[in-house]
Amino acid sequence: LQEVQVKEINAVLLTKGMSDNWESIWNFQAKPNDLLIASYPKSGTTWTQEIVDMIQNDGDVRKCQRAYTYVRQPHLEWKPWLLSTPGLEEAEKMPSPRTMKTHLPVQLLPPSFWKENTKIIYVARNAKDVAVSYYHLSRAMSVLPRPGTLDEFIDKFMNGRVLWGSWYDHVKGWWNKKDKHPILYLFYEDMKENPKQEIQKILKFLEKDLSEEIINKIIYHTSFDIMKQNPMAGYDTIHINIIDHSISSFMRKGITGDWKNHFTVSQSEKFDEHYKKKMAGTTLTFRSEI
Ligand code: A3P
Repeated sequence: LQEVQVKEINAVLLTKGMSDNWESIWNFQAKPNDLLIASYPKSGTTWTQEIVDMIQNDGDVRKCQRAYTYVRQPHLEWKPWLLSTPGLEEAEKMPSPRTMKTHLPVQLLPPSFWKENTKIIYVARNAKDVAVSYYHLSRAMSVLPRPGTLDEFIDKFMNGRVLWGSWYDHVKGWWNKKDKHPILYLFYEDMKENPKQEIQKILKFLEKDLSEEIINKIIYHTSFDIMKQNPMAGYDTIHINIIDHSISSFMRKGITGDWKNHFTVSQSEKFDEHYKKKMAGTTLTFRSEI
């Protein structure tokens, strides 16, 4: 590994220990018929995973609920500190076609994904809502670094000093890659506003056709309220020692614009000013006023 890459991995994964199995992640062998769901944390990953799972199972809820989504769709780089088996080993054991998930920034994705032209669905969400959701998860999840106050957390978020690194670089990096690779770039805000349209985009991307009735069933079963009741989707039991649901649950609010209930006017102004600089020159735009 080059020194510069090691530095980057340690910055994104925050501590040296977490990048211990980096060699095996970097050398992971993707296949052309794999599907990867990629995102910055708290952007609607689990929701997208659930939608994809239901699409792959033709809307058959029983098949989708037989196991936790993340067991069926392993988190490529999950480490033993989070679960007993690293997602990487799960992914290697899986029969094809495989669906996996990752939070890696684009420059750290194992190169075999590019070489094999593997399809990737990327989901992004506006920065302030991600920051709020990430703050609450960090409060509840003891394996994440302590967030401090919201003000302190916002500062860390703006400076990329959180697990998985800079949100700005993450969303821009994947955006820039999407014209050179089969990447479907989705937005949480669009999924909230028009789930049918976004599901249809996924269907087209996966070259699948489902009836109107099945699509409606998928919309229903992947709505926030129904997913919240589903312990398989909401990490309710498996993370019992890791997420303290009495502090904040994984399926927390599931809305757009919750940042307005959290950010003060001055925090928001400071954030916006910094945001403009970080996002200058990109064609990528987010809706944060909804
Ligand atoms: P909030 O904390 O704002 O409620 P990820 O899966 O990437 O970690 O994202 C988690 C966020 O997505 C949480 O946001 C969670 O509530 C929200 N979410 C999960 N399922 C959802 C759904 N079906 N509809 C809307 N939001 C959902």
